[in-house]
Amino acid sequence: MERNELLYTGKAKKIYATNQENVLLAEYLDQATALNGLKKDKVEGKGRLNNQITGRIFEYLAEKGIGNHYLKETSKTEQLIKRVEMISLEVVVRNVSAGSFSKRFGVEEGTDLPFPVLEFYYKKDKLDDPFMNDEHIFVLGIATKEEILEIKKQTIEINTVLVEMFKKIGIRLIDFKVEFGKTADGEMILADEISPDTCRLWDSTTSDHLDKDIYRRDLGNIIPVYQEVLERLNNM
Ligand code: TMP
Repeated sequence: MERNELLYTGKAKKIYATNQENVLLAEYLDQATALNGLKKDKVEGKGRLNNQITGRIFEYLAEKGIGNHYLKETSKTEQLIKRVEMISLEVVVRNVSAGSFSKRFGVEEGTDLPFPVLEFYYKKDKLDDPFMNDEHIFVLGIATKEEILEIKKQTIEINTVLVEMFKKIGIRLIDFKVEFGKTADGEMILADEISPDTCRLWDSTTSDHLDKDIYRRDLGNIIPVYQEVLERLNNM
């Protein structure tokens, strides 16, 4: 598969066209960002780890019947993905209070929530990704009512599978963010990445952070921690 023109540069990935119309190539970068890009550092080895972690998780989800854009790994930092039209939404699921939820509502971090709480954010850097509800999504034409329902249904299924998967490897899935896209056939599928950059993962025994909060909160080096997550996934 040939890597052709660069289509998109994100904070942690570059997306290229390939010689196949419906296949793109995602290159994971050695770059860490937080605070909507205000904090930014080169972190050697991060691209390789997130490429591999996302690949393992997307393969696992596909085995459990949750279709997604992942096709295959082509190098340590690159993977082939299906071409989709991305929906400009960040869909967050919270099983346990942490991060912005704890801050906004004054709930102590680590408090179990009685059911998974879904939140939507408008994916727009210029606006700082504002919080939004179903009606905002609909009125702005980001997705139809049916598509919103489909996104919610799939997100809850993804959460159920991931909570179980992480439990098997001694990790509590506190919260995470997913994104969706529509294929040329109009099918809504999971896209982007699922990695310690996009999830809060706490060790089940020690409650140690195994995720990007290490970077966001200046708690140390993320590389050994991301490596630990990859090793646990590989030994599952
Ligand atoms: P939050 O508590 O900061 O709102 O984050 C909730 C979860 O979503 C957390 O696992 C990190 C993830 N997330 C992203 O992946 N990208 C983002 O831009 C934001 C705001 C959160």
